[in-house]
Amino acid sequence: MEDREGCIVKYARIIGWGKYLPEKILSNQDLERIVDTSDEWIYSRTGIRERRIATPDETVTTMSVAASRAALAIAGLDAAELDLIIVATSSPDYLLPAAASMIQHELGAEHAAAFDLRAGCAGFVYGLAVGTQFIATGMYRHVLVIGAEIISKFLDWQDRDTCVLFGDGAGAVVLQASEEPTGLLACCLGSSGADYDALFVPGGGSKYPFCQEVLDQGWHHIKMNGRRLYRFAVTTLPQVALEVLAMAGLAPRDITLLIPHQANARIVQSVCERLEIPEEKVFINIHKYGNTSAASIPIALCEAVEEGRLNPGDHVLLLGFGAGLTWAAAVVRWGVPELSISRLFSWNFIRECVPVSEATVTACRATALLTVLTHCLWQLFPGGREQR
Ligand code: UT7
Repeated sequence: MEDREGCIVKYARIIGWGKYLPEKILSNQDLERIVDTSDEWIYSRTGIRERRIATPDETVTTMSVAASRAALAIAGLDAAELDLIIVATSSPDYLLPAAASMIQHELGAEHAAAFDLRAGCAGFVYGLAVGTQFIATGMYRHVLVIGAEIISKFLDWQDRDTCVLFGDGAGAVVLQASEEPTGLLACCLGSSGADYDALFVPGGGSKYPFCQEVLDQGWHHIKMNGRRLYRFAVTTLPQVALEVLAMAGLAPRDITLLIPHQANARIVQSVCERLEIPEEKVFINIHKYGNTSAASIPIALCEAVEEGRLNPGDHVLLLGFGAGLTWAAAVVRWGVPELSISRLFSWNFIRECVPVSEATVTACRATALLTVLTHCLWQLFPGGREQR
């Protein structure tokens, strides 16, 4: 298969990553003052200590734009070079249009197609799979995949079954066509629609459009059957993990890092026990952010890279599950971004290579620019050079 530039393409390398978390922290102690709960109950049952809550000014769009800008900076890519933006979210700013379109505008990604993808908390891994397909077929070269949620706006703050669990945030990755076997190597996606009502918002859609009854019944809030979801997760995730590992020709011991959806530390522990993956190979940040739904895996991935837990060639196992009920397992081989002119001149690349101040970087870039300009002038006016 060839892409638009005639290159053989099969893989979608992750070349940039970014995250955004609202500044406002809501701790378990804060929640003790809102509902009948305790830090001890929340932490022992879920692993959560605190979560981030968006301010009225923060939306899925603003958070996604911030995470995407960070990812594009790491990639050394201009937004105008993006071909497609996929936003995994269940809490978009509006029912219409897609958040992806507004994000595309804000980023200045004028050549990018854009759409939202809804697959609950498994949405980001679904997005990664979809973006990879567009690249593997040669249709697109650069795809931005975002997972972003403001679940706090759909919570009933009197319902202790749900309000203690969720948090807000966004994570993003940039995919680039590559001939190297990196990025998504295998994925396993699925859905058990019979369980749709284990986690859902009954009102505000086309079945029960927003009206006084929806408001009176509280159908605009998230309803969840925690135990049903728990059972679903601990039985489904180990199975699909083994399935996806087999597709990639790997065993659990070949995995460098497991990045699970951060819904409940006990679910993660149970899955790891069944897969015999040791604790030190699992990335957990649920204590800081709670369950950020579709944003949880990209935020965790971004933090794992920032903490130096991934190196080129490492295999990462991503495991997501959520409303639908959906599941998504993926094996990703980590790879470093290929060198390009734009990346060579990007702030992040220079800072990665040389730990110097911003002023020094500016001076280096100015010198490089001046050299290129002088060279061009010499080419244009060779007479001046001969006279000297
Ligand atoms: O992103 C995917 C979506 N969500 C999930 O994956 C959630 C999966 N499920 C879970 O994480 C767990 O089922 C929960 C954390 C939601 C609940 O933990 P649990 O151990 O399954 O508790 P439970 O629902 O069986 O409730 C045990 C007790 C109940 O009291 P009684 O009936 O035993 O007297 C609840 O009323 O805990 C009570 N309870 C609470 N107590 C203090 C429920 N919520 C709270 C609370 N604080 N916030």
